[in-house]
Amino acid sequence: MAKNNQAEEKTTKLLYGKTAIVTGASSGIGRATALKLAQAGAAVVLHARRKDRLNKLAADIQTQGGRVCVVAGDAASVSHIDKLLKSALNWKEGGGKYDIVVVNAGRGLAGSTLLSDNSQWEELYHLNVLGAAYLMRCAAKYLIGRKSGDIVAIGSVVGRNISPFSAFYGSSKFAIGAIAEGLRQEVCAHGVRVSLVMPGIVVSEFQKVAGYSEENFYKGIAHMGKLLEPQAIADGICWLLTQPSNVNVSEIMIRPTGQNYP
Ligand SMILES: NC(=O)c1ccc[n+]([C@@H]2O[C@H](COP(=O)([O-])OP(=O)(O)OC[C@H]3O[C@@H](n4cnc5c(N)ncnc54)[C@H](OP(=O)(O)O)[C@@H]3O)[C@@H](O)[C@H]2O)c1
Repeated sequence: MAKNNQAEEKTTKLLYGKTAIVTGASSGIGRATALKLAQAGAAVVLHARRKDRLNKLAADIQTQGGRVCVVAGDAASVSHIDKLLKSALNWKEGGGKYDIVVVNAGRGLAGSTLLSDNSQWEELYHLNVLGAAYLMRCAAKYLIGRKSGDIVAIGSVVGRNISPFSAFYGSSKFAIGAIAEGLRQEVCAHGVRVSLVMPGIVVSEFQKVAGYSEENFYKGIAHMGKLLEPQAIADGICWLLTQPSNVNVSEIMIRPTGQNYP
């Protein structure tokens, strides 16, 4: 990059000099967040299983002048998470470090405790809770050493207000909310911020993966009007990351205006 471009980036882009890892970057909220953080000047490390999708996003980011690295893998696997973090530290263009970790990869599951497909419970917990918690723990250990940094965990409004239409999934987001707040209390003295972002209903591949149908979902939300695009969550994440270092927006809930419940 030419020197005068670098100088301009430093003054106009609030995340210039930061390196951000975003999991679940191949779709929805993760994709929009990776793009947004790159536009704000961060070097971004993209993670998800579908490498073709990540490569396409990487090309889009590069076209816009951003710095990007792709690491494909499973966010429910400890060894794949270790590989992701090692790859970020080995990425020279990212400065051989990371400052921000957006713990976003996750999946939904339609139905209550009585009605949800219990053959998917284990997979959901491995991804939404165990994988996410392991990534948060590894990132926290590293960021404590650097005495600064951000961990952004993606929870859900159903991780605060339980609702039968997605009660089992909601329980995994209650867990991540508890883990995020517990971690915040552990690391805040070391200059590390932890933020829990709780989206309301966002239109993405989430609904299809969760198995939502007219009967078990869409009928019940028809009155809510225009739902959120992933961009609304990405903008919120970028906003909280660009607060002064002594300001930790530890929780944020972003709903479509018409979402009365949950
Ligand atoms: N959409 C909503 O209404 C809503 C509301 C509240 C909270 N959330 C939360 O927001 C986060 C993102 O959801 P979204 O709406 O953006 O859904 P999405 O469009 O389905 O995106 C999910 C992302 O997670 C990745 N992912 C899923 N399983 C994975 C695995 N085992 N290993 C690695 N990556 C995996 C997917 O990539 P690959 O398939 O390529 O691996 C994809 O990039 C999730 O944590 C979700 O629970 C969503």
